Amino acid sequence: MRITITEYQLPASGALVVGVLKGGKMPATARQLDKDSKGAIRRATKGSRFEGGKGQWLEILAPAGIKADRVVLGGLGEAKEIDPTSLENFGGSVVQRLAGSGLKTIAIAYDDVRGAKVEAAEGAARLAFGARLGSYRFDKYRTKDKAKDRPSVTTLSVTVSGATAARRAYKPLAAIADGVYMTRDLVSEPANVIFPESMARECRGLSKLGVKVEVLNEARMAKLGMHALLGVGQGSRRESRLVVMRWQGAGARSKPVAFVGKGVTFDTGGISLKPGPGMEMMKWDMGGSGTVVGLMKALAGRKAKVNAVGVVGLVENMPDGQAQRPGDIVTSMSGQTIEILNTDAEGRLVLADALWYTQNRFKPQFMVDLATLTGAMIIALGHENAGMFANDDELAERLHAAGKQIGEGVWRMPLADAYDKKLDCPIADMKNIGGRDAGSITAAQFLQRFVNEVPWAHLDIAGVAWGDKGKPTVPKGGTGWGVRMLDRLVANHYEG
Ligand code: BES
Ligand code: MN
Ligand code: ZN
Repeated sequence: MRITITEYQLPASGALVVGVLKGGKMPATARQLDKDSKGAIRRATKGSRFEGGKGQWLEILAPAGIKADRVVLGGLGEAKEIDPTSLENFGGSVVQRLAGSGLKTIAIAYDDVRGAKVEAAEGAARLAFGARLGSYRFDKYRTKDKAKDRPSVTTLSVTVSGATAARRAYKPLAAIADGVYMTRDLVSEPANVIFPESMARECRGLSKLGVKVEVLNEARMAKLGMHALLGVGQGSRRESRLVVMRWQGAGARSKPVAFVGKGVTFDTGGISLKPGPGMEMMKWDMGGSGTVVGLMKALAGRKAKVNAVGVVGLVENMPDGQAQRPGDIVTSMSGQTIEILNTDAEGRLVLADALWYTQNRFKPQFMVDLATLTGAMIIALGHENAGMFANDDELAERLHAAGKQIGEGVWRMPLADAYDKKLDCPIADMKNIGGRDAGSITAAQFLQRFVNEVPWAHLDIAGVAWGDKGKPTVPKGGTGWGVRMLDRLVANHYEG
């Protein structure tokens, strides 16, 4: 679906979407249409439960006196409820309601509303952004029944007076949407398509945007001593990779911010094999690294004035004659030894080396890692919030605020020595599991053993990387969670 912003005008065909305020108050376009149709708009609202409340919709087919084939009234709520997020949701809902309507075009006529919490140009840009995010589909492997439920709409235009300013406001948002799309694609692809090497190839593609991309193969990683990461990939026919992406949007002396992702392209559990039902979900066990890649794309795409490093550890966790066994002891890049008591607790092993490498090579201002790390995280927080663990209150607060701003929640969880002790091990420096209790916390404690003085936060995104229920700007499937909130974090505090 092509999404454009054009100068205000009423369309000659297709769907015309207009906003209506709570209580039936009509902004200029709705008033105009009511006049053109000799009162049909008001009559339609009177004859229904539509009151202009947020999330209410009313469709009027073929209204006399109006050129458009369909007028769709969308509730905006009260003027003071109109803000960037409500408009994004409005745009996304429009797409989801009308994509398969049989119509070819949608025009959203946007009026500047007095008392709204967003000015016209930004408002129109947010509508377009929401529409773009909400129109994502992953259907490339459906070759047969596409015709019947393929979207009929090919173009959505937001029309607003002052389109030039709105288009300027949309430009960085379009870059962010491109990043979110890339993450969703990577997460949705099956593991026979996205595996360490192919994912590294996707990362290389970011060089078109000016991102410097280095790919470390197994021999390089072995030289660096990354045996925690390498041990996980040892049972796979696919070679492991570590990819380093660098965006230099600020002066050479500005310290980078760093993002590190778990990229287990498929997690069978290894020799500690997972049960069969639901195992297909483990194709998205690279969700953390998917977010890091999409974020790098967003930052480079909008030319963020920041130096940012993205590091992703890419492995496939398979059972095999070569696979790592429960009881094996590996030496991580940090020199610390780990007894592998469960080969299914593999994400932390990948991150141990990726975090150590990132902090030592780049000396970043902060390090945020993302990982679909523990099933226990879903038990604790469900699908509404990601778990956040941090050694730094300021970073934690900034992440929380950025998430709140754009609608991706994080909830802080504790770190403490008492939890850390559960990882102590009589025959190595640590074991890779801490027992059933507090499973997400002991996993985070494990990671912290590979983090030195740098401000660090770990986001356990097991519950939010994939959605079985769609939302206006997040269709079901791979969510792209984290791209927007981390982009926001950077924009709020680390640019310029
Ligand atoms: N990738 C899984 C965690 C996961 C589970 C993510 C379900 C998303 C949905 C992770 O590698 C894992 O297997 N964790 C184990 C840890 C345990 C062995 C200590 C778990 O959560 O059961
Ligand atoms: Mn696992
Ligand atoms: Zn995993």
